[in-house]
Amino acid sequence: ARMSSLHTNVSNAAMTQRLPNCIIIGVRKCGTRALLEFLSLHPSIVTAEDEMHFFNDDERYRMGLEWYRHHMPLSLPHQVTVEKTPGYFISPIAPRRIHRMNSTVKLVVLLRHPTTRTVSDYTQIFYNKQGKNESLDVFEDIAIDPDTGEVNTRYKAVQISMYHHHFRHWLDVFPRHQIHVVDGDRLITDPVSEIERIEDFLGVERRVNYDLLYYNQTRGFYCMRKNATVQKCLGASKGRKHPDIEPSVIRKLNRFFEPHNKQLFDLIRQWFPWS
Ligand code: A3P
Repeated sequence: ARMSSLHTNVSNAAMTQRLPNCIIIGVRKCGTRALLEFLSLHPSIVTAEDEMHFFNDDERYRMGLEWYRHHMPLSLPHQVTVEKTPGYFISPIAPRRIHRMNSTVKLVVLLRHPTTRTVSDYTQIFYNKQGKNESLDVFEDIAIDPDTGEVNTRYKAVQISMYHHHFRHWLDVFPRHQIHVVDGDRLITDPVSEIERIEDFLGVERRVNYDLLYYNQTRGFYCMRKNATVQKCLGASKGRKHPDIEPSVIRKLNRFFEPHNKQLFDLIRQWFPWS
């Protein structure tokens, strides 16, 4: 008994809040919440529940790294601390600030088919506005410029899906091998295969398997088995039904993104089945 209480004290003393050694930087609507929650099932990973918006928000950033660290979860020395803020991906200043914190930090980026991501982004904003009783135009009118009939590149959801524009800022600062790119579409259909790659990238054992994740027929998504009795799916805001979009508009978006996808694949030297 003496030994075990001594042991407990030692490990408690080693429990402290640490700056993240891994950051999920985006992309918004590509499965960032699902990934964070799934990773939190891992015994060697601890995750910050809230999006910190630390490196992309000047006011927060001025609070300093100690403020930031005090928002991180408790961890043991061998554990990896993970934070996720999807807004980092599109912030031109976040890469340098993160590099200044820790030049060897591991970065994770999720990508989805750019048209799917655009529609998902629209759907989220649609629901947010509906909640506030604000009206919102139909997707077709926002995504297509009425003057030219072409894709509206001033639409933020379209801009975010032009991934290479944003990715360049990260590769100006970090070597390619420090950024792991996740297939967010595959995270939906086969989460364990994507998580295994991340476990390898982080240098932790492969522990998240299909005992911990199960396909929930009603949700139409994978959910978590926290223990023998507790199961948890993501909230209702994740995995919403998308509106039916005119097929010609979808085709226009797909055609528009094609050269941008190609530029991305060349940039990151990784391919996705989007065409
Ligand atoms: P949709 O709501 O458009 O389907 P984020 O957390 O980055 O905002 O991403 C939200 C997306 O995560 C959802 O987009 C959904 O498709 C995807 N997702 C991936 N795995 C999921 C899961 N197990 N449960 C719910 N949503 C999941």
